[in-house]
Amino acid sequence: MIKVNNLKKSYKDVQALNGVSFRVSAGELFAYLGPNGAGKTTTVRILTGLAKRSGGDAWINGFHIEHEALDAKRQCGVVPQTINLDNELTVFENLTIHGLLFGMPAAKRTQKIRELLDYVGLGDREKTPVARLSGGMKRRLTIARALVHSPRVLFLDEPTVGLDAGIRRRIWALIKRVQKKGTTIFLTTHYIEEAEFLAQRVAFLDEGAIIAVDSPRALMSRQGAWAIDRVVDDNVKTIYFKTKEAAREYTATQDESFSFRRVNLEDAFLALTGKKVK
Ligand SMILES: Nc1ncnc2c1ncn2[C@@H]1O[C@H](COP(=O)(O)OP(=O)(O)O)[C@@H](O)[C@H]1O
Ligand SMILES: [Mg+2]
Repeated sequence: MIKVNNLKKSYKDVQALNGVSFRVSAGELFAYLGPNGAGKTTTVRILTGLAKRSGGDAWINGFHIEHEALDAKRQCGVVPQTINLDNELTVFENLTIHGLLFGMPAAKRTQKIRELLDYVGLGDREKTPVARLSGGMKRRLTIARALVHSPRVLFLDEPTVGLDAGIRRRIWALIKRVQKKGTTIFLTTHYIEEAEFLAQRVAFLDEGAIIAVDSPRALMSRQGAWAIDRVVDDNVKTIYFKTKEAAREYTATQDESFSFRRVNLEDAFLALTGKKVK
């Protein structure tokens, strides 16, 4: 559904993307995980036609992002990193404008908007001005807006940034439901748990390059299964083990305090890049 070959982007003196390549299958939820400045938003902007590539090629559902730009764009719904709803307008009006941009006929548009507002739990907010919505509601509305024209691929750029844990889980549930309906999802995040919880496959992005692409489980198992953290000279030192037994044997020899936990995606990212995601 998404095919990206050696995509590059340079700004004046910054090489934001150094030639990234990956594929996302139809129906898949693909997470693009990396620290701030890694090039996540740049990738989303290029794939959704908001920025020009400097090199390489990409196709969305078979349409080339520049040679068949209009068709490619029609395949995409976008939830940008910065919420760009019109605060002066109502919930319903915001979605209507989007439907008009995509040339949807009135009856179909209204039906689809009502269906989506119910779907994201804003069915009773049609007439509310966006300015009066909470942060979580605005996120859900932005997701609804991205789905008005029934895109094949939904791009979510850091969809839960700045939201508290409870609201984040609600957005996760919504994203999973959208995927279940058959929409392919490309999600960027710098939250480890988000990628781990939602994605079938994760790409690790660092300084404009993809370091690894695999399932969360496979990426984590490169590091082992269990981890022991100890504080040594004010730094956390982590040791990895393939089995619980091996970890237990090690802890039996330790007098200092330690914490014992499962390996997570952060460990895998750290091992490959030498740095933390956040
Ligand atoms: N319009 C721009 N002009 C110049 N540099 C930019 C621009 N947009 C992004 N960059 C730079 O490109 C790099 C990648 O940015 P971005 O894609 O926003 O990263 P991320 O979304 O992963 O945090 C950063 O070094 C950023 O400063
Ligand atoms: Mg970004």
